[in-house]
Amino acid sequence: MSGKVVLLTDRRYLNQVPRVPSQLEAPTGFVADALGRPLRDLRISVTDRCNFRCVYCMPKEVFGRDYAFLPQSSLLSFEEVMRIAKIAVAHGVEKIRLTGGEPLLRKHIEKLIAALSVLKMPDGRELDLTLTTNGALLERMAQTLKDAGLKRVTVSLDALDDATFKHMNDVDFPVSQVLNGIDAAHRVGLGQIKVNMVVKGGMNDQEIVPMARHFKNSPFILRFIEYMDVGTSNGWRMNEVIPSAEVVRRISALMPLEPIEKNDAGETAERWRYRDGAGEIGVISSVSQAFCHACSRARLSTEGKLYTCLFASSGHDLRALMREGRSDEEISTAIAHLWRARTDRYSALRTGHTNVRKVEMSYIGG
Ligand code: GTP
Ligand code: 5AD
Ligand code: SF4
Ligand code: SF4
Repeated sequence: MSGKVVLLTDRRYLNQVPRVPSQLEAPTGFVADALGRPLRDLRISVTDRCNFRCVYCMPKEVFGRDYAFLPQSSLLSFEEVMRIAKIAVAHGVEKIRLTGGEPLLRKHIEKLIAALSVLKMPDGRELDLTLTTNGALLERMAQTLKDAGLKRVTVSLDALDDATFKHMNDVDFPVSQVLNGIDAAHRVGLGQIKVNMVVKGGMNDQEIVPMARHFKNSPFILRFIEYMDVGTSNGWRMNEVIPSAEVVRRISALMPLEPIEKNDAGETAERWRYRDGAGEIGVISSVSQAFCHACSRARLSTEGKLYTCLFASSGHDLRALMREGRSDEEISTAIAHLWRARTDRYSALRTGHTNVRKVEMSYIGG
């Protein structure tokens, strides 16, 4: 690399530049952490901005008008994202999920999708390439995303009732537009679409049954997510978590459910199907039943820090390595070493309290 490189540091989070071992090694398609968990899943945050202000994620009191989002120069370029993605795939990553903030706000996201969509696993298989969105721009962008090579999308939707939804997104955004986005994604063939609902007790738990009823018999899989203590902004309290067992109980009392097998061991959701054959739902119990034992997920923040846990307080600064002019082999070796040292299992160790310094979900992505 030529010319002078100015490193802009973001002081809001701790981070460390990974050590590059002198003994370089080629990726083998498999790297396991200290607890035997392979690296299979890479979640890439492409922007820290969002057009919603969900109360459990980006509350307005913290993410207000004067909140300093990352400057353009801090973001990884698409070329930089591709470098990391290629290395991750060489280490065994099979699934790439684009997240945010709201990923559809990143300019020309379709160009990144197009580049990612041609990556192949070492054995020649295609990647599972997906994206999590709040759906606001989905109706407009579904076709472009599909054409670029995106395989599927997951849409967040926390209520069917407009007043409840607007209270949660806090920007007066109507449910109908998200539903239109979901339909558009389905029309253009964006795979098996999942709908994620974060359940916050006392806020939208009365919507559990209406949401289940709405998506029963539809082509969409609805999943209920326990409200988590991610970040430090949302003022999380254990008594606002509705355990998945309670969600299943409430639905099953009206529309009987039975458990079904997970698709794969690393999956976040437990699956349940309607006894009358009208489809399935999922519950994601990150608080009441942690799934750290099989966690194969790494997260790449908007500015190129690699996080080995959603609840980590510091990330590994891969952007620094790239902008220092390190080679792919050096970066790949550094990633292999940091993954092998990984011992994270925050949710499994969580107590009722949460007070450590953690990164925000809008910064590293869901
Ligand atoms: P699919 O492959 O479509 O099933 O995706 P996924 O299960 O990876 O789920 P998705 O990206 O839709 O994540 C759903 C929610 O699960 C997230 O928004 C988080 O709330 C939670 N979640 C996902 N990954 C993790 C994780 O590694 N740890 C914890 N604690 N929660 C997670
Ligand atoms: N708890 C659980 N899930 C959360 N998300 C954001 N904040 C939280 C939280 N506190 C997830 C939701 C949302 C996605 C963008 O991030 O699944 O749909
Ligand atoms: Fe935005 Fe998603 Fe966070 Fe809501 S949960 S503020 S839509 S990133
Ligand atoms: Fe993985 Fe950390 Fe989530 Fe556990 S808490 S499942 S280790 S990201």
